[in-house]
Amino acid sequence: MDRPRITIFDTTLRDGEQSPGCSMNVQEKLRLAQQLDRLGVDVIEAGFPIASDGDFEAVQSIAASLRRPIIAGLARACAGDVDRAWQALQGAAHPRLHVVLATSDIHLKYKLRITREKCLEQAREAVRHAKSLCADVEFSPEDATRTDVAFLCQVVEAVIAIGATTVNIADTVGYSMPEEYGQLIRTLRERVDGIDKVTISTHCHNDLGLAVANSLAGVQAGARQVECAINGIGERAGNASLEEIVMAMRVRPDRYPYETAIASEQLFPSSQMLAEITRVPVQPNKAIIGRNAFAHEAGIHQDGILKNPLTYEIMTPQSVGVPDSRLVLGKHSGRHALALRCEQLGHQFERRELDEVYRRFVVLADRIKKVQDSHLLELIQDVTSGGDGKSDSGGQSKKFPPAGATRPFPRAAVAGANANDSHPAQVSGSAGQATVSIPLTDHRSEQEDYLWGV
Ligand code: KIV
Ligand code: ZN
Repeated sequence: MDRPRITIFDTTLRDGEQSPGCSMNVQEKLRLAQQLDRLGVDVIEAGFPIASDGDFEAVQSIAASLRRPIIAGLARACAGDVDRAWQALQGAAHPRLHVVLATSDIHLKYKLRITREKCLEQAREAVRHAKSLCADVEFSPEDATRTDVAFLCQVVEAVIAIGATTVNIADTVGYSMPEEYGQLIRTLRERVDGIDKVTISTHCHNDLGLAVANSLAGVQAGARQVECAINGIGERAGNASLEEIVMAMRVRPDRYPYETAIASEQLFPSSQMLAEITRVPVQPNKAIIGRNAFAHEAGIHQDGILKNPLTYEIMTPQSVGVPDSRLVLGKHSGRHALALRCEQLGHQFERRELDEVYRRFVVLADRIKKVQDSHLLELIQDVTSGGDGKSDSGGQSKKFPPAGATRPFPRAAVAGANANDSHPAQVSGSAGQATVSIPLTDHRSEQEDYLWGV
């Protein structure tokens, strides 16, 4: 049975860029837009052209250089904004005008200082103007989730009658709860004339950490476009995270039987590129693309992962473009992971010898947080040369630095290693940290089959 197709509308370059510290110049935006194209997003919201000349230029150059995706430009509900956005979109193969107007009483009274009647009229006017320029017009009632429902229905119905092709129900301040947001989408579908002819979109902010849950609830209620951003960046606490939405649908098709066109193995590279450009790092425990998302330190977990990754991984690192699964060697690690890392460093041990390496490793790991490859090599050397191990027995050894200190990985010291080979510790971005690269064995494809149902 065909699964409904969800349009992925990426707003990293517009709403995302509005988050503190995330501004990008024209070249950076273009580079990221090219990556978003590789990722397979359907719509790239390239910017807010009236906001600045830089934003205008960025939208213009993205529109001129990408042929496949729809390129959207944001405009407030007034002719000047719409015209400027349209000008920036001139070179686009598939342009979209995105018109926004707040509809909640709080915004009407304190921000716009207009009545509901005026709001309705302004929305109609702006969409009429946008439609006279562009066939593809999206209308967003800003702060929709705090808008009187009857009035929201009235506005949405009015803009559809004039020709809006997408209506985007914005949870601007991240106030909604998942059941409530889903119910709002259902109510619109029940009460608004013409809603079946347009695409309903979600746009959820993460102020209560519910942006992804709300977006998914919206999809279950009938929304067919999701607005989201790489790494979840966006105003304040951010937007719904693109990678989480996509992977929730991929990993749990039993609950979310929908398709997207996203090339999931491009998720990690996209995340890395954004972090590199903005210099805003990703939190280590961020789902899907965080440094620790596929790292396993506890011995019991490491043992399970080595026997079959299905034990502790619900998706493969490869499926989201993470170079390899990593086992961090720390004080909770077990013999199995230690032995594998030693093997990768060129040392195989008999059981008794491994016991000794392990005994000293535990003492060391207790003292320093993460055991680097260089530490491990020195420790191995000590054991194999018959050292008494006193240097690493918990005293203030000169050999091992205090917690947190790092030393470059001594590549040449690895038996059999080619100094030019990429080392897993480097691939993972933390040079020298002892990590275990899991060999791709048969159970890896078994896991793929199980997870992806192929
Ligand atoms: O959060 C918001 O309401 C917006 C609109 C422009 C959709 O970003
Ligand atoms: Zn927003």
